[in-house]
Amino acid sequence: MRVEPVRALIGHVAVPGDKSISHRAVLLGAVFEGETRISGFGRSADTEATIAAVRALGAEVDELDVDTLTVRGVGLRGLSEPGSPIECGNSGTLMRLLAGLLAGQRGSFELVGDASLAARPMERVAEPLRRMGARVETTDGHAPVLVEGAELGAIDYELPVASAQVKSAILLAGVLASGETTVVEPLPTRDHTERLLERAGASVTRRPQSVSVRSASRLVLDEVEIPGDFSSAAPLLVAAAIVPGSDLTVHGVGLNPRRTGLLDVLERMGARLAIYNRRSVGGEPAGDVQIRASELVGATVSREEIPSLVDELPLFALAAAHARGGSIVRGAGELRLKETDRIDGVAEGLRRLGGHVRGTADGFRIRGVPTRIRGGAFDARGDHRLAMLGAVAGISSIEGVELEGAEAVATSFPGFFRVLEQLSAV
Ligand code: S3P
Repeated sequence: MRVEPVRALIGHVAVPGDKSISHRAVLLGAVFEGETRISGFGRSADTEATIAAVRALGAEVDELDVDTLTVRGVGLRGLSEPGSPIECGNSGTLMRLLAGLLAGQRGSFELVGDASLAARPMERVAEPLRRMGARVETTDGHAPVLVEGAELGAIDYELPVASAQVKSAILLAGVLASGETTVVEPLPTRDHTERLLERAGASVTRRPQSVSVRSASRLVLDEVEIPGDFSSAAPLLVAAAIVPGSDLTVHGVGLNPRRTGLLDVLERMGARLAIYNRRSVGGEPAGDVQIRASELVGATVSREEIPSLVDELPLFALAAAHARGGSIVRGAGELRLKETDRIDGVAEGLRRLGGHVRGTADGFRIRGVPTRIRGGAFDARGDHRLAMLGAVAGISSIEGVELEGAEAVATSFPGFFRVLEQLSAV
């Protein structure tokens, strides 16, 4: 697909519901008591895999509208063995959270995924679940993953890497385990699972560096409203920050502080940002974010900040390539273990477009040049975040970008190109 430069990005927009919360709402809805109505569901290839998975496990899902569902739960230990493997597609969140939920069920379950997911590490979730008493087998550390449910016991677990997916898997298993399960985090990661569990009546204790959950017998949550996905708003926000003359407002977007590190970093770079109508949506902070283009300066992203913008680091690299002065990202080695190796994909991809971006073992070094980048060919490598990065690079370039693998956006934001076109002033 060819992405042409635009004069500016102008207008108002809403983005689909948060993907992380959409997965969690459907997975938890499947084991809650009674019916959970989910509105603002972020429909995408990843979250549709979650709907299919819980259906295969015996929960009923009614799709009332593209973004409204009801899930009829089977109770905390009521999931049943499907006759065939559960297809997790491209979704690490689905595979890892589901492994946690299945660890306390009766039966054996096989989780499979596409080639990208099958290359991602699964021992990080298998190991703590084994300690809790489940039988979990990976295939040389990867999918297919076999989970044989058991009576679980609580554990105290120190996460070796900051990962909301691993934390969530342990917390979901913890709700089914006898006693109190505690997860210690090296750095705070997104807390959507904790928020939903708390709202559904679970006993959750939160401390600055750890979280505990107690065994529950039944959880109920009638309604979940999901705010817009900050990670889907991010490509639009970065595009508006770097394309001169842009003025964009994204309405109703999730502003959980464990997700919005990009806003802090953009602010340090001199972006013109304003947040209006701060409110709570389904137990999550949300608001409207306005951004106007401005001259940016380089920034350093510290190790401590990484979890709060882990999925936005590719976009940061692009913004930094347009900024005055150098930028550095450290402590982001996890990027090599995402849907693709995002350090290589970003550095090589942006370099081919004329950006001065170098990948390091655990991040980037960027020499900013405060003009539009040249353009050229960009390969998304099947990764949705890289596809959106390539598109934003295209609209902010001089010559445009020939984007290979644009269709990967369907993983998280199927309507991305339509929205981009609506906002583009040519
Ligand atoms: C997610 C957690 C993060 C993030 C991913 C979604 C989640 O992954 O990169 O896109 O929904 O919990 P890790 O837990 O592997 O850091």
